[in-house]
Amino acid sequence: MKNLTTKNHQKVVLVGDGAVGSSYAYSMMNQGIAEEFVIVDVIKERTEGDALDLEDAQVFTAPKKVYSGDYSDAKDADVVVITAGAPQKPGETRLDLVNKNLKILSSIVKPIVDSGFDGIFVVAANPVDILTYATWKFSGFPKEKVIGSGTSLDTARLRVALAKKLDVDPRDVNAFIMGEHGDSEFAAYDEASVAGKPLKTIAKEKGITDDDLAKIEDDTRNKAYEIINRKGATFYGVATCLMRITRAILRDENAVLPIGAALNGEYGLNDIFIGTPAIINASGLAGVVELPLSAKEKDLMAKSAETLKKVTADGLA
Ligand code: NAI
Ligand code: 2OP
Repeated sequence: MKNLTTKNHQKVVLVGDGAVGSSYAYSMMNQGIAEEFVIVDVIKERTEGDALDLEDAQVFTAPKKVYSGDYSDAKDADVVVITAGAPQKPGETRLDLVNKNLKILSSIVKPIVDSGFDGIFVVAANPVDILTYATWKFSGFPKEKVIGSGTSLDTARLRVALAKKLDVDPRDVNAFIMGEHGDSEFAAYDEASVAGKPLKTIAKEKGITDDDLAKIEDDTRNKAYEIINRKGATFYGVATCLMRITRAILRDENAVLPIGAALNGEYGLNDIFIGTPAIINASGLAGVVELPLSAKEKDLMAKSAETLKKVTADGLA
């Protein structure tokens, strides 16, 4: 395992300084993660402005070198985070973005690999499961070194909603959204718990019905649309998820996080990147945590995977 814990200088390159990227940069700055943070975007002026703005925050956070750069800066980076790409417009699905964003992605991955980059790719641009797969294909990297944000944001949304209903801290809710980061995702309620006590048992005790749980699952699936309809985009939630994934890599945490992972037979699936809990450390994906899904959930996982596999796009073999 590449051990970064002994390395006292860690470097992250962000590609895509829009709403998601700049929020991620701010989150990284606030948490004091990584000594060197490079921002790349086709709009150079924005990255320069953001670097100048962000460096002012270090007086109150942690000393950090933050600057506007280019792909050659990825040479000695530990992590490259890709948030470059068009976001959905109201009424569009994530999958509608595929051709537009694959084109952008292909122009990014090659120069990064050409720089000599040998770290971990973390992908957030949508449709994220397809773009994560494409990053793996375009880069020629081992699957373990390419991670998607997958269902990290959806899982956060589910935990927040369940926490409100159960009146407990969202950090104590152990529940996952599985599958596509998108309309075919589902809540793995049969394996969900609080302090090891099955969610379904707690729900019964509290008079929370199956319909209530189905509504929470549905609201989670649709939350992005609700936010986009109101403010045009979503960014703080995913930015924090990306910070959490980056921290798990840089601190070699072996953290169990919901991400977009390459599957190797888990859930009966292969040749796909899809949302599942997984162990994240300095090597990237250290292992998939395969949930013991019920027969109904296995079927939902297979259907979600089928949705992703059906996506055809230019440049995606
Ligand atoms: P945005 O439009 O605010 O920012 C996109 C940025 O990408 C812009 O700064 C643009 O100049 C840059 N860009 C475009 N082409 C580029 C290239 N070839 N090289 C470098 N930079 C380039 O969009 P926003 O809201 O930041 O969203 C970014 C992506 O993240 C979208 O695809 C969106 O759907 C996705 N997203 C993913 C989430 C997830 O959970 N995975 C959650 C929220 C958004
Ligand atoms: C989200 O779920 C749009 O993928 C984005 O917020």
